[in-house]
Amino acid sequence: MIKTIISLWMICESKNKTNLKFQNLKINGKSSLIGEVKISGAKNSALVLLAASLLTEEKITLYNVPDLSDIDKMQHILKSLGVKLTNETDSNEKLVINSKDLHICELPFELVNSLRASFFCIGPLLSKLGEASLALPGGCNIGARPIDEHIKGLRALGAEIKIHGGIIKANINGSKKRLIGSRIHLACPSVGATETLIMAATLAEGTTIIHNAAREPEVQDLCQMLNKMGAKIYGAGKSKIIIYGVEKLKGCSHRVIPDRIEAGTFLIAAAATYSSITVSPVIPHHLTSVLDKLKESGSKIFIKNDSISIKTQSIKAVNIKTSPFPGFPTDLQAPFTVLMSIAKGTSKISETIFENRMNHVHELNKMGAHISVHKSTAFIKGVNELKGDKLIGLDLRSTAAIIIAALTANGNSSVSGLEHLDRGYEHFEWKLNKLGAKLARNINEVLYEETKDVDKNSFDKETYQAA
Ligand code: EPZ
Repeated sequence: MIKTIISLWMICESKNKTNLKFQNLKINGKSSLIGEVKISGAKNSALVLLAASLLTEEKITLYNVPDLSDIDKMQHILKSLGVKLTNETDSNEKLVINSKDLHICELPFELVNSLRASFFCIGPLLSKLGEASLALPGGCNIGARPIDEHIKGLRALGAEIKIHGGIIKANINGSKKRLIGSRIHLACPSVGATETLIMAATLAEGTTIIHNAAREPEVQDLCQMLNKMGAKIYGAGKSKIIIYGVEKLKGCSHRVIPDRIEAGTFLIAAAATYSSITVSPVIPHHLTSVLDKLKESGSKIFIKNDSISIKTQSIKAVNIKTSPFPGFPTDLQAPFTVLMSIAKGTSKISETIFENRMNHVHELNKMGAHISVHKSTAFIKGVNELKGDKLIGLDLRSTAAIIIAALTANGNSSVSGLEHLDRGYEHFEWKLNKLGAKLARNINEVLYEETKDVDKNSFDKETYQAA
């Protein structure tokens, strides 16, 4: 049965992925946007909440789960462990997870390789089954993405962890098969490590204190759901979090928080196209640092309950430096770089979180931007306008940024790299078209037909671009 799930997933994934590799967005330039856009549930919250549902045998009902390829992959991973998931609507609006038949502690290599967030399962699997085995999550286009802080913290909680040949084997020695609470100092406020260790500590024996914990809203959302399940977690959103271990966690219902990064992406798209839009629902204080920078660069911002409106008539160059929450989020650095590329004046954008998160700069310079990069700092001289071109997105946020650039450009563009975009933005072009933009998704049929039998890996971008 499990093998069937994996092979079915592999077939539709490879077909879907192949399709996406041959899809692109045709985008009309000089767009202006108007109206209200509905913000989906947060990808980076839903992924960890799905993993946290492994911590109880009782039913977890998640509302507002976004319909994204990363979420689909996480669902396949949970199913491969024996978990039952039912979508009570045609999208993920209401997802019911039942882990009472959880009995497999080994994550399938193919699935882990395609989704870093699968690593979130290690804490719950250790706590529930006393062992876990999974592939070491590799790096990605934005950086090495090490997990040393996760490993160090799990060892501090008493897990025995061996890494050999790219496979992590974790288990709990001793008859009790239970982690032991401990004091943990994170070297960096890692979001993933904080979440992994909170989940592992909820069922540990005794108290765990995490110093230098990440304060992101997604960490807070996880703690809120775990406390609904009966966990005893204090200090969520602060850099010191205390977890008193409990014997058992129960089921609950929980609504995923709105995606602050999606909301910020649309606000920046509105500013870059001198538009006036409203994003809702949002939690405004999740975006304070971004709103401050948009106001500094000349946009007017209006907040009303769970909605934020923006109106932009001019764009002034401002400097940003990404930092952990509540600082400026690294996930909005690429979109904001687009805004600064057409701002009046020169700006400096320092990326301090990931070492390779400037993949969008090459494409923006192709469109006529004046950006030079030294290490992880972009020096930008604003230009009057960008020009449309054939563009390639190389990671999730840089693909969204390049689409924003194409919306502002003089002339039309085509943007490929939609396999990245669909990981983290739900119905992105549909929402932009609803605001008045003109984007159309195409499959390059000829190219797809010609190459559907050759090894996809042998396919280089130039050939694709030429076509
Ligand atoms: C989460 O990634 C998000 N992903 C990222 O969103 C986000 O950019 C990032 O947090 C920072 O906010 C999910 O939540 C699924 P980190 P994560 O651990 O947990 C270093 C997107 O676009 N580090 O906070 O992997 C690491 O190298 C994605 O939606 C270690 O050195 O981020 C990085 O430089 C991209 N050792 C920094 O910390 C570790 O053990 C921040 O990483 C862990 C991290």
